[in-house]
Amino acid sequence: MHNCCPSQRQVNGLNNVLNRHPWWRDAVIYQVYVRSFLDSTGDGIGDLAGVRAGLPYLKKLGVDGIWLSPFYPSPQHDHGYDVAGYCDVDPLFGDLAEFDLLTAAARRLGMKVLLDIVPNHCSDEHPWFRQALAAAPGSRERGRFHFADGRGPDGSEPPNNWHSMFGGPAWTRVTEADGRPGQWYLHMFAPEQPDWNWRTPEVAAEFDQVLRFWLDRGVDGFRVDVAAGLFKHPELPDSPDPEADARTRDSVNPLAWNQPEVHDVWRHWRAVCEEYTARDGRERLLVGEVSVPTARDHALYVRPDELHQAFFFDLLSAPWNADAFRKVIGEAMQDIAGTGSTVTWVLNNHDQVRTVTRYGEPTPEGSGLGAARARAAALLMLALPGAAYIYQGEELGLPEVVDLPDDVLTDPIFRRTGSRARIRDGCRVPLPWSGQASPFGFTSGAEGARPWLPQPDYFAEYATDRALADTRSFWHLYRDGLQLRSRLPQLGDGALEWLDTPPGVLGFVRGDGLNRGDGLVCAVNFGTAPTPAPVSGTPLLASGPCPAGVLPGSTAAWWINDL
Ligand code: GLC
Repeated sequence: MHNCCPSQRQVNGLNNVLNRHPWWRDAVIYQVYVRSFLDSTGDGIGDLAGVRAGLPYLKKLGVDGIWLSPFYPSPQHDHGYDVAGYCDVDPLFGDLAEFDLLTAAARRLGMKVLLDIVPNHCSDEHPWFRQALAAAPGSRERGRFHFADGRGPDGSEPPNNWHSMFGGPAWTRVTEADGRPGQWYLHMFAPEQPDWNWRTPEVAAEFDQVLRFWLDRGVDGFRVDVAAGLFKHPELPDSPDPEADARTRDSVNPLAWNQPEVHDVWRHWRAVCEEYTARDGRERLLVGEVSVPTARDHALYVRPDELHQAFFFDLLSAPWNADAFRKVIGEAMQDIAGTGSTVTWVLNNHDQVRTVTRYGEPTPEGSGLGAARARAAALLMLALPGAAYIYQGEELGLPEVVDLPDDVLTDPIFRRTGSRARIRDGCRVPLPWSGQASPFGFTSGAEGARPWLPQPDYFAEYATDRALADTRSFWHLYRDGLQLRSRLPQLGDGALEWLDTPPGVLGFVRGDGLNRGDGLVCAVNFGTAPTPAPVSGTPLLASGPCPAGVLPGSTAAWWINDL
């Protein structure tokens, strides 16, 4: 009799074949910050139809897929990381039908689609949080969040000394139904982002439904927001070092982050993904935003039955020097060894100052230097073993917009720190696509439509139409690097062998199982003076002018080895 369902043996066999080289191991994913990518409606805010219109551009660039920042219903206090409904699209960005069109278009182009899932907290407008506010202390509704009585004789002190990552205390007091000041609720980010209580089984069950809702709609996986959060110490005791917690935006409070129970969640989510893969043979991906104190802690999140990958953020904070980069890369490789995962490299994202500015010097020539270094860093990243994420605009060499006026800044960190920290708006300014004046083709609306953050005049130089037309542009460097990466077996997944290089220069060979002579050599000169190239021939690709035999300052290049 014909049996339409595959046997378990067949499924296992299929998985074995697939698992030899799942696509995500060395994928290059483009992070789409939806509200700043492309606006199809003329309201000044990017949307899903805009992303769909931009897919051919991304295909041409050569990325394997996209990660969409949150587009769910949200009051947008943290630009969608405050989720009021997990299984829908905010009208600001479109609707579910448009989402389906977008994923279908991506599939036709052979591109993966990852969503951003936010399990640590929701929005204070989420129906369950509203119910919790209306319910009494000790109720089931409050049990889905962290509500606690305050300290002090009248309960007017927060329940503990924890700090919010966005500044200020991690607790906000509510007014009870009778109008009196009442309990406090925990929010590790903004007050509009109450933390879920993952010790309540209902919360875990709800997220199961969310995962399945989007997997059923065909997504290829999820970027998991704040993946070292979720569980808090059950007694919510005081942090041992509140000053240290307040000084940093890193998750250092050992009672609020990185609790052992979180690993069970990732095991479960992995099993859900495997279930879908077993059905149709398509590998799903969970890539976590994991900020933890040590490399050893980080590695625990990517054990073979947990998250497939976790961003490795240390390149984001490495200063521009060869020793710092070598140390960070070495640690990442060591961290990943034995986990079965691959390193997930990141140079830019929606929370960080863009590389061109980060690597620049505060001098008139500084921005040119920053651009040269950012180009070199890009070639370095694309030559490293593992996966890489490119943040929109990185491929254009966009600098950080550092002079946005205070009254347009929207980042909750700016408000919560008493306007001291100007951190995240400058990398979120809408992309320039064409033309000489704002909105640079970003919004297809009527004349005078204004992007949600103002674009500086100099964005004209970075518009995609100019970038595509100029073979010396950042765009061509990324495109050429991506093309070579998909063509050359030496790149992508595999091992790396360091070369002996002079001080200030990093060099390594890629290419498993090949003769060293066929390896791909990547070298980066972090200094400003030229140095002899490690390989004598003409490079395959270089981040700047690079004659044979020489590696100029602030330049990276790739050669096929002739050592
Ligand atoms: C993550 C996101 C960031 C957001 C925060 C709270 O760190 O990358 O943008 O503000 O989570 O959800």
